[in-house]
Amino acid sequence: MASDFDNSLRILVIHGPNLNLLGTREPEIYGATTLAEIDAELASLAKQAGCELDAFQSNHEGLLIDRIQEARSNADGVLINPAGLTHSSVSLRDALIASELPVVEVHLSNVFAREAFRHHSYVSGIAVGVVSGFGPRSYRLGLDALIGHLRDAQA
Ligand code: DQA
Repeated sequence: MASDFDNSLRILVIHGPNLNLLGTREPEIYGATTLAEIDAELASLAKQAGCELDAFQSNHEGLLIDRIQEARSNADGVLINPAGLTHSSVSLRDALIASELPVVEVHLSNVFAREAFRHHSYVSGIAVGVVSGFGPRSYRLGLDALIGHLRDAQA
């Protein structure tokens, strides 16, 4: 764990493919908030909670996996919106398992109210929990839940 020598938690936020387009991508589904706005809010919430937060977005599965592998030695928990890889990537799931870190999965849209192929997630089964359907608030709720989970584990 990264916090063996101090009490501050380090959270890694991972955003999957196409989330860099938030704000202009299908706004009727994903809303008008940009990824930069989401990251800024998460950074501010983490700071208020006394946590360090690092956010990473990529359209490339391998880069996401590289970043998750690194997290094993420098983070305490992962907040992830795997985007389309949610429904397709065994490798992303394997990387999250290998990290041995608690994972919270979030989605802006309610994936269960959408096409059937979005109803299955390769991540949910290895996550502490899932937040889906609340727009940018899903990230805020997910961060709060992850921090709470980590603090419980510290107690
Ligand atoms: C998403 C839902 C996924 O099904 C989709 O492929 C995305 C975004 C969401 O946040 O609602 O890219 O993860």
